[in-house]
Amino acid sequence: MAPFEMMCIECGKVHDMTRPAYACSSCGNLLEVSVDIPSAQERLSDGEWRGRPLSVWKYRELLPVGPGTKVFSRNEGGTPLLKCDRLGKHLHLKDLWVKFDGMNPTGSFKDRGMTVGITTAKELGMTMVTCASTGNTSASLAAYAGLAGLKCVVLIPEGKVALGKLAQAMMHGAKVVSVKGNFDQALDMVMRASDSLGMYVLNSVNPFRVEGQKTAAYEVCDQLGGAAPDMLYIPVGNGGNSAAYWKGFREYESLGLADSHPKIMGVQAAGAAPVAAMFSDGLDTLVPVAKPDTVATAIRIGNPANWKKTVRALRDSGGSCLTVTDDEILRAQRLMAELEGIFAEPAGAAAVAGLAKDIESGTVDRSSRIVCVSTGHGLKDPDVAVANSEKPVAVEASVDALRKIVEGL
Ligand SMILES: Cc1ncc(COP(=O)(O)O)c(C=O)c1O
Ligand SMILES: [Zn+2]
Repeated sequence: MAPFEMMCIECGKVHDMTRPAYACSSCGNLLEVSVDIPSAQERLSDGEWRGRPLSVWKYRELLPVGPGTKVFSRNEGGTPLLKCDRLGKHLHLKDLWVKFDGMNPTGSFKDRGMTVGITTAKELGMTMVTCASTGNTSASLAAYAGLAGLKCVVLIPEGKVALGKLAQAMMHGAKVVSVKGNFDQALDMVMRASDSLGMYVLNSVNPFRVEGQKTAAYEVCDQLGGAAPDMLYIPVGNGGNSAAYWKGFREYESLGLADSHPKIMGVQAAGAAPVAAMFSDGLDTLVPVAKPDTVATAIRIGNPANWKKTVRALRDSGGSCLTVTDDEILRAQRLMAELEGIFAEPAGAAAVAGLAKDIESGTVDRSSRIVCVSTGHGLKDPDVAVANSEKPVAVEASVDALRKIVEGL
């Protein structure tokens, strides 16, 4: 096998990596980059990579990018893995961590995939990139397209994108197209139009994006001293990131860099939960949700393009997929903010909400080492934060007025 091959997840057909492709030309299924483990071990054997700073590109030898290729980077990855003792105490857990991927350059995990995706777009000679987005992908793509000098067109569902994300896409110079429809319809437009319009698609159906995102799992193992956690809770929208984490954990274990892998626990919002329904109802195929709805707009997705990859990831890891209500998401968002100083956007709090729910139902071993992935920063969605918080108290400019408030605390 070549060091990297792009193959169909269903029929195994190998595809040419030097041309844009998002689906198998024989059977239409998703594509995945496969890493040849023995040759990767060879590339890592001098151990030089271990001394590099934690980041996506620390793991360059495990990414499908040629050694001489110019990389477009803003130091993505290397995000903190935070030990959460106060939240742990609240949930009666001893060993709880949050991987705060909201600390990436544009405030979400998408940057991990985008640095690899945009580097690949340039390598393929593309001049225009595109995506459909619930917000974060468009913010990240716009930033990296600007950095690489590529034209950028982003499609967003009208009125359903958090303010911070919209501001980012507009500020970084993308052509922002507001679609009268939901994310699933916008993605369908992108997939049907991209070839004829000469646009390279950087949604998570792009296998190179998933490669960048898998580095978060490598980082978690490195940050835990070369060990995988027992369980990893992660929000599931289009299903790319959960599949990417699983790929990362599996590769790290195969490379001998960790001696186990976690159970991956997907978390969906109750109003947009077709993957969770497959687990609860024992289904073999996805039944899309026609009108997905949740306060966590980032995961407001009814027809996840990567459902096959994520369902395999969750099942193969021994994990599952559960749902949380909007109230549970908002409660988790506040707990993270008040107890741990971690301000996550609603989707970035869904993992903690899912864990809290599983603890309540008694399905979690309280001594396990658990990592919750917080995927996006709270500043992305100020409207939700303000709407669900106590309003500031207006006072006259006097110490007496302040005393009354302070004494009432
Ligand atoms: C903050 C945040 N969390 C979670 C997700 C879901 O990730 P995926 O679509 O890869 O399942 C997204 C996707 O937009 C997101 O922006
Ligand atoms: Zn195929």
